[in-house]
Amino acid sequence: MIKKIAVLTSGGDSPGMNAAIRAVVRTGIHHNLDVLGIQYGYRGLLEKKLLPLDLKSVGGIMQHGGTLLMTSRSEEFKTKSGVSKAADILRENQVDALVVIGGDGSMAGALDLYQQQEFSVIGLPATIDNDLYGTDMCIGVDTALNTIISAIDKIKDTASSHRRAFIVEVMGRHSGYLALMSGIAGGVEAVLVPEFATDIEKVSHKLKEGYNRGKSHCIVLVAEGAGDIYEIAKMMEDKIGFQMRVTILGHLQRGGSPSAFDRILGSRLGSEAVEQLLKKQNHHMVGLSGNETQVIPLVEILAQKKKLQKSIYELADVLAR
Ligand code: F6P
Repeated sequence: MIKKIAVLTSGGDSPGMNAAIRAVVRTGIHHNLDVLGIQYGYRGLLEKKLLPLDLKSVGGIMQHGGTLLMTSRSEEFKTKSGVSKAADILRENQVDALVVIGGDGSMAGALDLYQQQEFSVIGLPATIDNDLYGTDMCIGVDTALNTIISAIDKIKDTASSHRRAFIVEVMGRHSGYLALMSGIAGGVEAVLVPEFATDIEKVSHKLKEGYNRGKSHCIVLVAEGAGDIYEIAKMMEDKIGFQMRVTILGHLQRGGSPSAFDRILGSRLGSEAVEQLLKKQNHHMVGLSGNETQVIPLVEILAQKKKLQKSIYELADVLAR
């Protein structure tokens, strides 16, 4: 019987985490559960940074980016002794199950708690990288995409005024999802992602052709994991014969007020996580499939890699003229 749950956010923050925290707390209270918030993720858990959460404590937070509970990356929690200490602290505080909101590292931590300590956990996918298997969308991705396309629109204005070429880096250490989707939505001239090899010669030729046809701007979008942006810019400059301005969007992509989509996604997944715990699903992640929530064992989530759709990558190339 579950009487008390705890919730934490871990790893990189993403917009919509607050909606998820709010939904966990309010659904928990709806089912007469006590809810504890853990500050600063797994690190805060090891430092016993626990605080009771009530209905009011999660009021007025949904429109804010970041996470009310704060977050961190913890090296100690990656060790066996760290996981054992964390389980002891949760048990000492009569916590029956832990809700973990975060990306792949956070899900791996949750699985460790379950496998090494038989502690009940449930995960919610929240990372702007959208690189977790088991969900079509992670919390925060939609907002990040909107932030990126608004930046691209602005860069296009200045690029067109000078007839300049820009190369823009977006986040995605191992994933090209943000670059690809914002490339299509932003109408850029080329997209470079870590998942598919790029022929710089071919891309440069295409850019030059565009200029010869009288295009007033050119924007190349590069995912962080696709290579060093300055080196790529240099290689392209040498081939196309004109200067490329470099812009790195960086952490601004993680901030900002969450979109309606992310608020709704966070709310649905947060609530469903509590419902699934009550149905005794205690080593799973709740994700989105189509327009339905789904629950998949964490071990499966972590064993698979989410693929970037080749057909969408090809579409980006066809549309970028
Ligand atoms: O994990 C999400 C992410 O946005 C990556 O794409 C990026 O490389 C990373 O976070 C950077 O995060 P931090 O600077 O917080 O380590």
